[in-house]
Amino acid sequence: MELTFKNPAEETRQAMCDASLEMGNRPRTKEYRESAEENIEKITGHDHARVLSSGNAAIMAAMANIEGPVMIPDQGGWSGFRKMAEFLGRTVLYLPTSEGVVDEEILEEQLKQKKPDALFITSFAGYMAEQPVKAIFEICEDQGVLLVEDASGSVGDPEGNLANGDHSHVLVASTGSPKVVNVGNGGFISTSDPQKFQDTGFLLKTLQASPVTCAGLREEIKKAPLNLVKNIDACKFIKKELKTCLHPDKRGINVTVPVDEPKKIGRTLRQALNVKGGGMITTCPRYDRIKQPAVCLEIKNLDINCLTRDNLQEIVATVHRVTGQV
Ligand SMILES: Cc1ncc(COP(=O)(O)O)c(C=O)c1O
Repeated sequence: MELTFKNPAEETRQAMCDASLEMGNRPRTKEYRESAEENIEKITGHDHARVLSSGNAAIMAAMANIEGPVMIPDQGGWSGFRKMAEFLGRTVLYLPTSEGVVDEEILEEQLKQKKPDALFITSFAGYMAEQPVKAIFEICEDQGVLLVEDASGSVGDPEGNLANGDHSHVLVASTGSPKVVNVGNGGFISTSDPQKFQDTGFLLKTLQASPVTCAGLREEIKKAPLNLVKNIDACKFIKKELKTCLHPDKRGINVTVPVDEPKKIGRTLRQALNVKGGGMITTCPRYDRIKQPAVCLEIKNLDINCLTRDNLQEIVATVHRVTGQV
């Protein structure tokens, strides 16, 4: 079995090479930026977008606009939420979840009780389970709380549940490696509220991406829906075949398997599932995934061309053998 780490598409790399030869050409720079932003607006349904230097830069731009406390999930979020809140001096409140997934009743009660200004979530809890984003948005709207969805793992969702501007006040995303929009670096922020960008105009300019990233993003974002669907389908197959995993019935782009000795099992799995150009195993407890001992199969890191049925079956057999699941 040959597993390969995800790379930006050939067309994306070519576009970035071409753009690098145009550095300093202002009309071309403007064209790369504007067309990348148009493509983000098209795919998210938001009216305004900015290409920024990273996903964390987008989180910074979103959080800079918020003055009061920010709420984040107790697990399965992105550690950058907490780090950025601490950096900007914002109070962090934790939302209890069911293994990372937001429970609507608990959310409503916690928003009423703790009154944050904003809720930051990732579209998939720990990349492993879809959040009920539309329901979360409706509760946030009712309570006057800003919903910021980190869509690094979900841009181009054909079901329209995730990364959908109709039910997120602000979307942020990383387009670094390995992401669904896999440019290799950069990120973006989008919203339909023009005020959000007016208030942070200087910061957005400071955090803006290079024209090379913009040229790459405008190409690579076209591949996002296929990339995402192939990742979700592969995880669905693996979840069905595995004896034990978390959130077996939810859409996700990784698969998390609870184990007693995650470090040891992670090491053995890394050797057995050798990925050319990178890795596909993370270990837990970890805030970004789940706060219990587990290993994660980061299917999202793999080139979609190696997500064949044979390879997926071999991954399952390897996990069963290494973890002793029978
Ligand atoms: C969900 C999520 N959000 C944000 C980031 C940060 O992105 P960047 O490395 O582009 O700052 C990451 C990085 O892995 C991520 O997984």
